[in-house]
Amino acid sequence: MMRKIIATLAAGAVALTLSACGGGAGGTNTAAAGGKNMRLSLNQTKEHPSFVALDNWGKALDKESGSKYKIQVYPNETLGKQAEAIQLVKAGTVDLAIVSGTQLENLNKDFTVLNLPNMFTSAEQQIKVVNDPAVTGDLFKSLEANNKIKVVGAFTQGARNIYLKSGPVKTKADLAGKKIRVQESEMMLAMIRAMGASPTPMAYGEVYTALQSGVIDGAENNEVSYYTVKHFEVAKFYSYTKHLVGVDYLIMNADLYNKLSAADKAAFDKTWKAAYTEHLQLWNKSTQDAITKAKAGGAQFSEVPADVFAADLDKLATQFVTTDSAKKLYDAVKAAGK
Ligand code: GCU
Repeated sequence: MMRKIIATLAAGAVALTLSACGGGAGGTNTAAAGGKNMRLSLNQTKEHPSFVALDNWGKALDKESGSKYKIQVYPNETLGKQAEAIQLVKAGTVDLAIVSGTQLENLNKDFTVLNLPNMFTSAEQQIKVVNDPAVTGDLFKSLEANNKIKVVGAFTQGARNIYLKSGPVKTKADLAGKKIRVQESEMMLAMIRAMGASPTPMAYGEVYTALQSGVIDGAENNEVSYYTVKHFEVAKFYSYTKHLVGVDYLIMNADLYNKLSAADKAAFDKTWKAAYTEHLQLWNKSTQDAITKAKAGGAQFSEVPADVFAADLDKLATQFVTTDSAKKLYDAVKAAGK
């Protein structure tokens, strides 16, 4: 995989050199002197709202910075799975990446607090709280010194729900013994066990084949992912377990951010704010579109009575919020969300 990533990066560098010499897109793809062409790693398709908002962000930053900074978004895990993207951003080989909050749990356990069930009531409320420096400022800064990662801010993943190959989830018994793909995080494993199923951690890009071949019986995600990466084709029963509202983070190589001039930082911060605002605006419509299209492809959506998993999901906070720093963050998030 790493070899493929390096080949992709090298091809990108050649394209940029050609355009700088007038052999490509007439030089318009190259950042002005003293600036940078930044590469952003994403694991979603081009129709996903994250790609759309990030691509528009690149255009806005280009304009705002007088073409000093350009962003090329690489979709579909072309630059690697999220765990690999973190390593590349740390090393500065890739400048930016969108990674799920579950990945950051592995760098600082306090990120788990924001991934727990029952933390947020809506995408809007979540994004307001998670992007508030008074709540998450220290948490975000915690990855700079040891990991060289600046957490720039957050995109919503909306509410996540379980989908199965075999049928809808109406009671806890419907999940008993089912192998469910989870993101690579201790809390996600515990959550699926608490719901009575058997968790199988794996990267996003591997889920379609695992569902298709029957290595797993189901997975959990929002409707937008369920549709855009085509899981609906191989697991037709989407059940509204609404077990948590997930969060993605934009991460950046910290040295790169810290070297920006005050004016460049201002351009970056201003345009990023517009990007996450646009993402949130796109989210609800993308969700509705995904439901309509997945249904047209044969998927069935069904409600799950709210009390089926409520007590199981409630217990996770007690299990995972144990240190003073995690408790402080938990209380701050809850207070800000009111
Ligand atoms: C969502 C989320 C991704 C994450 C994926 C997953 O699509 O936006 O960042 O990787 O879920 O389940 O792995």
